[in-house]
Amino acid sequence: MIKLRVAMIGAGVMGKAYSLAIASLPMYVWPTTWVIERELVVELTPELAEEARVRYGFARAATDWRRAVEDPSIDAIIILTPPREHAEVALAAIANGKHIVCEKPLATSAADARLVYESAETAGIVHQVGLNFRLAPAVQMGLKLLREGAVGEVISYRGSWLTDQYLDESLPYSWRSERGGGALGDDAPHAIDFAHAFVGEITEVVATSGTVITERASAVDQTTSVVEVEDEVNLLMKFATGQNGTLEGSRVAAGRKVTWGFEINGMNGSLVYDWERKEELRYYDARDAPDRVGFRTILAGPSQPGGEHFWPVACFGTGYAETKALQLLQFGRAVFEDQPVDTSFSEGLRVAEVIEAATRAADTQSWQRVAHAGAAAA
Ligand SMILES: NC(=O)c1ccc[n+]([C@@H]2O[C@H](COP(=O)([O-])OP(=O)(O)OC[C@H]3O[C@@H](n4cnc5c(N)ncnc54)[C@H](O)[C@@H]3O)[C@@H](O)[C@H]2O)c1
Repeated sequence: MIKLRVAMIGAGVMGKAYSLAIASLPMYVWPTTWVIERELVVELTPELAEEARVRYGFARAATDWRRAVEDPSIDAIIILTPPREHAEVALAAIANGKHIVCEKPLATSAADARLVYESAETAGIVHQVGLNFRLAPAVQMGLKLLREGAVGEVISYRGSWLTDQYLDESLPYSWRSERGGGALGDDAPHAIDFAHAFVGEITEVVATSGTVITERASAVDQTTSVVEVEDEVNLLMKFATGQNGTLEGSRVAAGRKVTWGFEINGMNGSLVYDWERKEELRYYDARDAPDRVGFRTILAGPSQPGGEHFWPVACFGTGYAETKALQLLQFGRAVFEDQPVDTSFSEGLRVAEVIEAATRAADTQSWQRVAHAGAAAA
């Protein structure tokens, strides 16, 4: 069995997701010729690192990511730190020839994302950004239906990412209050990625945004700081292929938990998806006979792309960690079998370019072109 020995940098919420995915991967995908080995976990303090080592099943613990990226016994780096450190860690890992999984956003600016993407390409490493939502079997089924012409020519796209986590004024100031966090940096990447996957390149955006809870207190000493980023944002966008679309994002939408999804209207029908009902894809066929029109609900299971790895019947539960397992399956297959990954750094760069244009559009209240380094990404 070939081993891909990884160092995981950061072991917060995403540390749990990746550790579950790594551990479960051979249980879901078997037989296999390779496995991912949890070699080293890096956290800020020796106590946090050791706790993560024991809890998440790693062989070693450390506190210095620089030594981890130089460690010859490590094949790949998984970057799960707050966004402001992504580019620096990724560039150091690239310089040491490591393959990389980096969580979204790839970087906190489009310029940094471009540098990381181009450096990774030049170095010839395998690179992937953690845009796992598009790998959900129900979403992949939507893409399959789209490719098959089931909705016909796409007319318009509506995307949303709504949650209410930040309605809670007692949530402390954190990296999610700074650039790279917020409705655009933290939550939008998956929604923008859906738009890219289903329609294509976004060329122009105009946006409004607002911050509802403008100050938050430190969890350490209760001093307050101004929140740098938006709690909600609305975008109108134009696609290179001529369609129009909207994206609506909020982290203060009471009652919404993970309303991350899309509605695509085409000449032959529509597709509707919402992550809160992650195993259900709704499809409307405009060619149905008039006496039976209506949306049908496709229940995701072993018959939808990716679902074959999990359970023998639909609705047994293909959840969040399973999409991370699908993401890591692509990563390992890229390393050992020369297969492509759907969400390479080029996708992370395309997302960063849209976020930057949307930020400029909201600041200037004007249409902004999305600067497409994306030509390289296409
Ligand atoms: N793909 C997704 O669905 C998804 C979901 C949530 C978060 N994320 C992304 O994952 C990343 C991490 O998010 P999270 O929710 O796990 O955050 P988190 O705050 O829960 O965890 C971050 C961890 O990194 C550690 N850390 C910070 N600096 C470090 C350093 N220099 N070296 C080692 N460890 C360090 C912190 O101690 C913390 O435990 C973010 O980029 C976020 O946007 C992605």
